[in-house]
Amino acid sequence: MKAIKIVVPPDKSISHRAIMLGSISKGTTRIKNLLMGDDIRRTIEAFRAMGVSIEITSSPSSADPRNDIVVHGVGMRGLKKPGKALYLGNSGTTMRILPGILAGQDFEVVLKGDTSLSKRPMRRIVEPLVKMGVRISGKRLKVKGIKEKEIFPPIEIHGGRIKPIRHNSKIASAQVKSCILLAGLFAKGITSVTEPVRSRDHTERMLRIFGCRLKASPGGVYPEQSRGARDRQDSGVSLRGPVRLRSPQTIEIPGDVSSAAFFIVAGCILPDMKIIIKNVGLNPTRTGSLDILKKMGADISFRPRASSLEPYGDIIVKGADLKGVRISPGEVVRAIDEMPIIMVAACFAKGVTVIHGAGELRVKETDRINSMVTNLKKMGAEIEVKGERLKVRGGRPLHGARVSSYGDHRTAMSMLVAGLVLKCRIKVTGLGCINKSFPGFLDLLEDIRLLTH
Ligand code: S3P
Repeated sequence: MKAIKIVVPPDKSISHRAIMLGSISKGTTRIKNLLMGDDIRRTIEAFRAMGVSIEITSSPSSADPRNDIVVHGVGMRGLKKPGKALYLGNSGTTMRILPGILAGQDFEVVLKGDTSLSKRPMRRIVEPLVKMGVRISGKRLKVKGIKEKEIFPPIEIHGGRIKPIRHNSKIASAQVKSCILLAGLFAKGITSVTEPVRSRDHTERMLRIFGCRLKASPGGVYPEQSRGARDRQDSGVSLRGPVRLRSPQTIEIPGDVSSAAFFIVAGCILPDMKIIIKNVGLNPTRTGSLDILKKMGADISFRPRASSLEPYGDIIVKGADLKGVRISPGEVVRAIDEMPIIMVAACFAKGVTVIHGAGELRVKETDRINSMVTNLKKMGAEIEVKGERLKVRGGRPLHGARVSSYGDHRTAMSMLVAGLVLKCRIKVTGLGCINKSFPGFLDLLEDIRLLTH
């Protein structure tokens, strides 16, 4: 058996939050192993434009996404009005979470994005912020199948005095939850957010290490594991504002499990292969893809390590025969960014995989149901889509094809992994987007290709 040890880039979600909380806390925050991908650069530039000094203290090489930085926090209301609109590129996380912080500042600002970001729905954060008393608006457009008009970037926000709310979110979204909790830091009283299934809790964990007390209700973690409708309970989290954040001094960011997922699936499908992925974040709100793959028969084991911020450890994957499974909406939430590569795994599994509650995939960097289904069908896959449900008939013979990234990093990487395990030519156009989360992906893929051929 051939073995390879790899390191994946630092976690994108945690990297954004470390910069954001470091910027508005009192004191200096040293962030070790920060992802230096395109989206994180946008977050850094946005805070620099608002007067925060952020130094890049160690950058191993221009191609290496792992950097150390120092953020000189300006305090909760210390940000300055930027000279012009903040351009956030393709970063949906910055566009949706940053307004929570801007809601508490004493100036107005416009947030803009690229063509893809300008098509991403923002009503989910605009409505709760309006309830908190924030003056915020965006471009209102009618969308097919939705009664009320949707709101899109550019977004204009006038920060100021705001009031707390209790928000009951219909969708499980960490971006929505984070935006409201961060706005709640500036409001006097209790701000709470409930959601149908607990979304990733990086903001809550990071707020705690910045000295904020939060209360979380136990419900809603994995509803499919509950015994019946009666013990299904929404997941909730609350904090009492106003809060002043204090820098914890040093934060170390683990590897991104969403990036690791590409090589975990490759390791499952490639025969006689063992892939060890070092220091990957293993937060249970993020490890849905590992649970799904194990259910499919994958041979995955862990070497966990202790950390005060986030659980993390090494992941060891060996080749195994995968079988089709049923994936529930709660599992989709915990694997939301890994669903494209799970669709690839489903094509290689024996039998049928049914994915329920996949609707949120339609509003990512691209419509990921459309991008993945179109691409995989071009390779000969058999997939049926009905509303929010996908049915993949695995084990069909697949062949090479010319496909598109649709400008989406995870579609691009998923298709390249499909090409790697098939050992046939998959030409993927538009690979620049990979730098959003995984600079160095192509080199790592090549290392594994050389080992297997
Ligand atoms: C993210 C939350 C998820 C995820 C995105 C990053 C975050 O989005 O898809 O890539 O960092 O909070 P939703 O909150 O829309 O589910």
